[in-house]
Amino acid sequence: MKHVLSADQFTRSELDGLMSRASEMEQMIQAGGSDLCRGRILGALFYEPSTRTRLSFEAAMMRLGGSVISETDVTFSSQTKGEVMEDTIRIVGSYADVIALRTKEKGEAKLAAHYSPVPVLNGGDGSGEHPTQSLLDLYTITKYHGVGQRPLKVAFVGDLKYGRTVHSLAKILRLYDGVELTFVAPDVIQMPEEYVASDDRILHTLEDSVLRESDVIYDTRMQKERFDDMEQYQQLRHAFVFTPEVVSKMQEEAILMHPLPRVDEIRQSVDALPQAKYFEQASHGIPVRMALIAEVLGL
Ligand code: CP
Repeated sequence: MKHVLSADQFTRSELDGLMSRASEMEQMIQAGGSDLCRGRILGALFYEPSTRTRLSFEAAMMRLGGSVISETDVTFSSQTKGEVMEDTIRIVGSYADVIALRTKEKGEAKLAAHYSPVPVLNGGDGSGEHPTQSLLDLYTITKYHGVGQRPLKVAFVGDLKYGRTVHSLAKILRLYDGVELTFVAPDVIQMPEEYVASDDRILHTLEDSVLRESDVIYDTRMQKERFDDMEQYQQLRHAFVFTPEVVSKMQEEAILMHPLPRVDEIRQSVDALPQAKYFEQASHGIPVRMALIAEVLGL
């Protein structure tokens, strides 16, 4: 494994290895961290807003004893003077040992990897993919439900067109036996065909049967920044709202996930319910990204 660009690239055995390494990293954090990456530098280049992905990549590198350089606002980058991203990547690749990258456009992580002398970790490319998020999502699901060990029903709800995390996670879950995927979204923001398989279920409304029968419900935010038509966004933004009443229809052992940030599609009154696992899910970003950094650096 060199670059991490798409969920397509993982094999089952690589995923098993990463999950088990992430679990070791969780213990390592408890034990006070490590100096595995002492002398190594992570370059964090984020050209779209981020809280979790950037900070958990940075914290992961620091927990491994390494250092971080970052560029988080394109207005302070030489790209505002006309430098193309390819040149920025070449340069940062000569300053850092690994690059975590978030870009505005689908496909830009792949372009960056072509020019980078060091591994590029795709931290979200526009409406394309978010493969490192799908690894922490898999880690979270594995903690509560043995993926591939028994039938597992997963329902994705919300903005499935622009929500890049669901694109990557659907690909990853297909590698496991017995996983049944349901996509719940109005037609205009339904899962793009390239991520749908013939046995997936497509629904337009969140039926009670889906709430009752799913082991995992993965909700997403309406990606306001990717809508061309703000009127359409306003019409859709409350298409699905998880309130305690809605969540009470889920099984007690089922889990409600969300990549965050949420706006108001999951009410704060849901946070204390046993199904609400989205904050724990976000916390898994650190051990999973520690495992990933160590793997791509061959450590
Ligand atoms: N889940 C996620 O990508 O969050 P951020 O946009 O805060 O990085």
